[in-house]
Amino acid sequence: MHTTHPPQHIAIIMDGNGRWAKQRHLPRTVGHAKGAGVVHDLVRSCVDLGVPHLTLYAFSTENWQRPSDEVSTLMGLFFQYLEKEMTNMRTEGVRLKVLGDISRFAPELQQRIRDAEADTLNPPNITLNVAANYGGRWDIVQAVQAWQQAHPGADASELTVDNFGQYLSTAGMPDVDLLIRTGGEYRISNFLLWQAAYAELYFTDTLWPDFDTQELQKAVTWFADRDRRFGKLSTR
Ligand code: IPE
Ligand code: IPE
Ligand code: MG
Repeated sequence: MHTTHPPQHIAIIMDGNGRWAKQRHLPRTVGHAKGAGVVHDLVRSCVDLGVPHLTLYAFSTENWQRPSDEVSTLMGLFFQYLEKEMTNMRTEGVRLKVLGDISRFAPELQQRIRDAEADTLNPPNITLNVAANYGGRWDIVQAVQAWQQAHPGADASELTVDNFGQYLSTAGMPDVDLLIRTGGEYRISNFLLWQAAYAELYFTDTLWPDFDTQELQKAVTWFADRDRRFGKLSTR
């Protein structure tokens, strides 16, 4: 059921886990567990739709400021996801890549991330980027630093809008076509600032744990109707 022109890169701000739990008088951590539980189906739906790149915002550079037990729960869920999904990812052709500064994570989680990335290198049906300890501002700064390391002593005038992307954590991937945010807020919250320059923005009140294949299909159908002008005149 590939659509004619599926987005080449969908990015999702998975927001609303806490409110989902609150509505049910449950601890926020239950909302996070429920939210982690919908990811597998979502990845599969993207494969079915012919979407080759999916980036999920799992933990922002600002999320460290939450209570430490909530941070621990999120780290634990991330670890479990990687552990539980390894076989599925391999059989379903999912290539995993973590975007973000993982050096702040516990050594076991860092190792699990490296193993998961190394074990899912086969030609993929889909690249799944998990943005963890990720911030769009961090990405831009680390890209400048990576460029400088690759070109010691070079003049910054050699950096251009066209060659800059290869130093970002999304190097080699297309820009974001469709940016989805669940949970009813209308903001970017330091997600893929550079890569989403011309993304179509889709906001829904649906809370992340309730975001299913049908909701994704709605967003993709909405996307198919957009007139993407990129600053030019309409060709319609
Ligand atoms: C998104 O859900 C998950 C993360 C930010 C890690 P929230 O935890 O932000 O849920 P709300 O916004 O409080 O409902
Ligand atoms: C954005 O959600 C980060 C993730 C989904 C990982 P937040 O809940 O942290 O964003 P704000 O604080 O409402 O902007
Ligand atoms: Mg939130």
